[in-house]
Amino acid sequence: MSQRIIVALTGATGQIYGIRLLELLAELEYESHLILSRAAKLNIKQESEYSVEAVQALADAEYGYKDVAAPPSSGSFETAGMVIAPCSMKTLSNVAHGSSGNLITRAADVTLKERRTLVLMPREKPLNKIHLKNMLEVTDVGGIINPPFPSFYNNPDSIDDIIDRTAARTLSLFDIDVDFEEWSGMSAEEAPE
Ligand SMILES: Cc1cc2nc3c(=O)[nH]c(=O)nc-3n(C[C@H](O)[C@H](O)[C@H](O)COP(=O)(O)O)c2cc1C
Repeated sequence: MSQRIIVALTGATGQIYGIRLLELLAELEYESHLILSRAAKLNIKQESEYSVEAVQALADAEYGYKDVAAPPSSGSFETAGMVIAPCSMKTLSNVAHGSSGNLITRAADVTLKERRTLVLMPREKPLNKIHLKNMLEVTDVGGIINPPFPSFYNNPDSIDDIIDRTAARTLSLFDIDVDFEEWSGMSAEEAPE
C-alpha cells in the first residue's frame, strides 16, 4: 500500500484535527500531501496557535487550492487515500455532487473513482436535510463520514486527549496503526434491557 495520504483542511471550525493528523503522519513516517482551502487559511489564523506557514511545514508536499493540475488531480498519483479534516458543508456538497472545481474536490473525486479510502470529517451543527443527504450520497459511493465527535467513555483528561484519540481513530480507517488504548470491555450486567 502507498505510504502517501492526501490531507485537506477546509473552512469549518476544527482546524486542529487536520493539524494533528499531519503531525501524526509525520511521526509515523507517512508522506502527507497537503491542500489548504482559502477559508481554512482564515480559520487557522482565527482558531489555532499555528501560523499557516507552520501548518504547511508539517507536510511533505503542499499544493495550491486552485492548482487543479497538481499531482493529486490524477489517479496515476498513487495514494492510500485522502482525509478532509475539517470538512465544511460546502466541500461536502461539492464532493457529494462530483463538482471538482478546486484541487480539494478534484482530489476527493479522484480518490472515489480509484476506489481508495476517502474520509470526511464534517463539522456543522445543527444539520439540515441537505447536509444529511450529502453525507448519504458520499457514503453510497464508498466515502467514510467520520464526524469529529468526541468520545467520553475513555475518560479523556484534556482537549488534547480528545483530539489525539479522534486523530488516531481516523488514521485507523486507513489501516494505520497508532498506539492508543483499546476498549477492553466492561460488565454488561448493569446495561438496560
Ligand atoms: C470562523 C468560521 C467558522 C466556520 N465554521 C464552519 C463550520 O463549522 N462548518 C461549515 O460548514 N462552515 C463553516 N464556516 C464557513 C466556511 O468557511 C465557508 O462556507 C467556506 O466557503 C467554506 O469553503 P471551503 O470548503 O472551500 O473551505 C466557517 C467560517 C468561519 C469564518
